[in-house]
Amino acid sequence: DTTATENIVWHQHTVNKAARAANKQQQPCVLWFTGLSGSGKSTVAGALENELHQAGYHTYLLDGDNVRFGLCGDLGFSDDDRKENIRRVGEVAKLMVDAGVIVLTAFISPHRQERELVRALLGDSEFIEIHVDADLAICEQRDPKGLYKKARAGEIKNFTGIDAVYEAPTKPELYLDNGNNPVSTSVQLIMTYLSQQGHIK
Ligand code: PPS
Repeated sequence: DTTATENIVWHQHTVNKAARAANKQQQPCVLWFTGLSGSGKSTVAGALENELHQAGYHTYLLDGDNVRFGLCGDLGFSDDDRKENIRRVGEVAKLMVDAGVIVLTAFISPHRQERELVRALLGDSEFIEIHVDADLAICEQRDPKGLYKKARAGEIKNFTGIDAVYEAPTKPELYLDNGNNPVSTSVQLIMTYLSQQGHIK
């Protein structure tokens, strides 16, 4: 039996991550938003990307709903499929960090273990876990896509928070109380963190 990487040797190219990042005057990283459906991951990530973009930084937002149309179009919401979803997104995010980009990801990513696997793919301080916290009751009340209603009616199985698990981060780099704070507060908190950590100027 041969493994996929047997007889394959990593090619070290001359232009590397540090060189690309220096050109861009930003320190690439992954801002990993995790939280329940309807907690506001995409909204905060989108608003933050807009602010970074306006300031001239090179960003890319990988969003759960959108990625599931393409890269992960073959995956559903079983534990195994979610695991594969996060694994692929993690690998793509790593490539983008290598390209010098500030990457934002908005996935429920309900399992602690998968998030830690992505963290392990990246260098120290390149993985910034952001817990977008809002009570299930608030998410359910917002229900922007009407999915909680369907889940309660039994029309969707394995819905996170209803009949599928969500494991909250224990030590996220950033915690957003997104049930009570406006989006602008969350965006400013992250901008401050990014500049304190030297990812942006
Ligand atoms: S995961 O768990 O990280 O693989 O999920 P993700 O790729 O972020 O996709 C979550 C969005 O898919 C919609 N949706 C569901 N969510 C949770 N559970 C079930 N069963 C489900 N079925 C569809 C839902 O709109 C999620 O969007 P967000 O943006 O999180 O509200």
